[in-house]
Amino acid sequence: MERFLIEGGTALNGKVKVHGAKNAALPILSAALLIDGESVIHNCPDLSDVRASVHILESLGCQCHREGDTLTVKSDAICSSQIPDDLMQKTRSSIIFLGAVAARCGTAVLSSPGGCDLGPRPIDLHLSSLRQLGLCIKEEHGSLYCNSEKGLFGTSIYIPIPSVGTTENIMIAAATAKGTTRICNAAREPEIVDLANFLNGAGANVQGAGSCDIVIEGVSSLHSVEHSIIPDRILTATYMSTVAVTGGDALIEGAIPEHLKAVSAEFIKMGCQISTKNEGIRIAAPKRLSRLKSVKTQYYPGFPTDAGPTLIAALCTADGTSTFTENIFENRFKFVDELRRLGADIKTEGRTAIIDGVKALSGAQVKCTDLRGGAALLVAGLAANGVTTLCDVHHINRGYENPVENFKNLGANIKRTDV
Ligand code: EPZ
Repeated sequence: MERFLIEGGTALNGKVKVHGAKNAALPILSAALLIDGESVIHNCPDLSDVRASVHILESLGCQCHREGDTLTVKSDAICSSQIPDDLMQKTRSSIIFLGAVAARCGTAVLSSPGGCDLGPRPIDLHLSSLRQLGLCIKEEHGSLYCNSEKGLFGTSIYIPIPSVGTTENIMIAAATAKGTTRICNAAREPEIVDLANFLNGAGANVQGAGSCDIVIEGVSSLHSVEHSIIPDRILTATYMSTVAVTGGDALIEGAIPEHLKAVSAEFIKMGCQISTKNEGIRIAAPKRLSRLKSVKTQYYPGFPTDAGPTLIAALCTADGTSTFTENIFENRFKFVDELRRLGADIKTEGRTAIIDGVKALSGAQVKCTDLRGGAALLVAGLAANGVTTLCDVHHINRGYENPVENFKNLGANIKRTDV
């Protein structure tokens, strides 16, 4: 079983390059299914979640080939519209394939993805939105049997929650639907803009991505496309937490400052110096971080839920009491018990965590509970005195490419062991 061994207490300095965004790569790989030809996708991170999407594409008849960080997907010969259950269950985000399979094949059979570590992950908005486009969806014994005999038809869709995945599913399904689709109250994340750029590069007509109003004029088909994925803003936020909590000074190369305005604002309040040059984001930390009176997660451009756990980890040794409120997911604090094993003083009340900063954390054996919770334990382990053993690191491998090598490059004393 793979584990990370971390000897904490070393300030992280130097520079590190940010890889492509997992949450942009996943919907773009789904959209590649629409292309009657080839998608050449650069800056595509090699992560377990991305590999799971590649396996789904291959099960549908696509040919995928990776060369470094370029993934090529040939989707001119789709042979199935049924996604095997075991592949659907690998990642919760596999629901993002529903719109693409239905739009390309006219039918789709897939099992409902399960919940995940963050609590129930409903798909009601995905289903109701795709039904409004004309997809007939029958839910039976945990599977979705879908068909759109007459095709998909553009319409106006209001989504009560600016759901990222729902917005993406609608964009993908509407790209080749007949007529115009308008998404009202759309998610505004940078990953939505990246998906729109990919689709438009393939001949689609998507306008307004990044705003809460997106208009898609359906086109008859999409052609081969070459695209480079945006840098991962959540990975950048993770690096910022590790540099901040260890009192370091580092340049996060390739990060887009615009994508991290809400995150940078919190680190500045904690006493960090943030400078944004065209090559990325430089963060220099004080000897000890100041507490944050109150941080609340919001939909983009607010403070992102995915950057919450690693920020909480950085606040564990801040000077004073911080309050963190999670407004997006129900069960984001599973990792807090593990942080306590490292000496953190945290109480949780519903969706709020109250963090009393301690002078120092001390190393212990802890286990990752989910992707971003695992990253939080890595942040805390880098700050803790002594050795921290991180178990169940497969969670981290879902969203972080070569974490050991990358943190080593910043001076961290970290290694991988197999026990
Ligand atoms: C995306 O998940 C990201 N995943 C998540 O990142 C991220 O935390 C989330 O957006 C932020 O909003 C990917 O992009 C692959 P949502 P998604 O639909 O699309 C509710 C990570 O760590 N909802 O925006 O699944 C839902 O329960 C992951 O990289 C419904 O009620 O999230 C949540 O409360 C974790 N019904 C809220 O909307 C639905 O049909 C926002 O979820 C869909 C969602």
